[in-house]
Amino acid sequence: MIQALRGMKDIMSPDNSRFVHIIETASRIAKRYGYEYIETPLLEETTLFKRSVGESSDIVGKEMYQFIDKGGHDVCLRPEGTAGVVRAFIQNKLDKRGGTYRFFYHGPMFRYERPQKGRLREFHQFGCESFGEESVYEDFTMILMIKDIFDALGIGYTIKINSLGCPECMPGYRERLVTHLHDIKDGLCEDCQRRISTNPIRVLDCKVESCRTQLQKAPLIVDNLCKTCDAEFGRLISLLKSHDIPYELDPKLVRGLDYYTRTAFEFVSSEIGAQSAIAGGGRYNRLVEFLDGKPTPAVGFALGIERIMELAKMPKSEREGLYLGVMEPDAIETVLKIAHKKRQSEKVYTEYRKKSLKAHLKAADRMQARLCAIIGEDELKTGEIWVKDLESKEERRIAVNEFV
Ligand code: HAM
Repeated sequence: MIQALRGMKDIMSPDNSRFVHIIETASRIAKRYGYEYIETPLLEETTLFKRSVGESSDIVGKEMYQFIDKGGHDVCLRPEGTAGVVRAFIQNKLDKRGGTYRFFYHGPMFRYERPQKGRLREFHQFGCESFGEESVYEDFTMILMIKDIFDALGIGYTIKINSLGCPECMPGYRERLVTHLHDIKDGLCEDCQRRISTNPIRVLDCKVESCRTQLQKAPLIVDNLCKTCDAEFGRLISLLKSHDIPYELDPKLVRGLDYYTRTAFEFVSSEIGAQSAIAGGGRYNRLVEFLDGKPTPAVGFALGIERIMELAKMPKSEREGLYLGVMEPDAIETVLKIAHKKRQSEKVYTEYRKKSLKAHLKAADRMQARLCAIIGEDELKTGEIWVKDLESKEERRIAVNEFV
């Protein structure tokens, strides 16, 4: 039997309703915040991710579904959504037009990671990207929007935030950090020893216990910010405070993608095990320029749909629609006519196989239909159909032309 690939899952009943509910809720809230839908291709040039997510990141270094297509192009299944949206933003010349643009998207992402609970090779994100707004009010508004989404889904979380500085303060900080990392090198894991030269900032969020102990005295980015970054970060924090949004300052939060500047944040849940990040994002003021666009400030986030599926509280499901069944093959023609008319305004399930009344009622119940209507020999003779309301349990006979 052919099975789905390791780390890839079918999303079907009963989980499909959770999946759809999350996308619908997040889309509704994003629209209220002025975001419009964008769809970008699943497949992009590999260079796009190398230049945006970063060559030294784990995503690009180890996890890409990369191949040469039939035309000899080096292509890659998207490991995340931001790079494609930025490419579309530049390709459609929105960077040249100026102004503010806000997009939301959802869809599959692919990372060749070691599958475990909460970590898949194909997973789905819902994300938002905002272009053109430099002020930290936009970062704050985005955090507020994510809060609204999780609140609407009944999900608890902790917000972790940090600032990753800018090209003015980061190089000096990086030097200080590298000097410190060389001093403690022998106590670091192999990955971190390698990262000292490739991506020293990533050492800060290593999960290996011995590295964490070694890093206790490491210089922190927040203590080394330039005046502007420090003031902006201070403003964001006072906005969170004045709006009573609880947060945790996490000076070692660096994110796994290289494009961030200034604000970085994660929403984490304590209820889903080790892979606890349910959403992550931040500001990426230099990415549009890195991808050859006109310098444009930007901020965005994405949430992991599979990770929040088990956390989301579903609204009470209500019976809906009509189940139409036959007890005689001759009744099928009538069912087809009724179904087509009814489908102009409501959901209709049809069952063309002859079944007992009990079997039809059981099937209608499984479909969560509100009404169950059956046509048999008697109904064909009298021109009436038998209808049961599965909510109120009321039964009646109605003339076909009255029913449709
Ligand atoms: P990210 O933190 O890599 O950020 O992913 C965002 C979310 O996707 C994570 O918080 C997690 O919930 C989910 N996720 C990531 N990897 C997996 C996986 N292997 N299996 C299941 N869920 C996963 C980004 O992707 C950025 N593009 C976010 C962003 C948008 N930053 C700015 N704009």
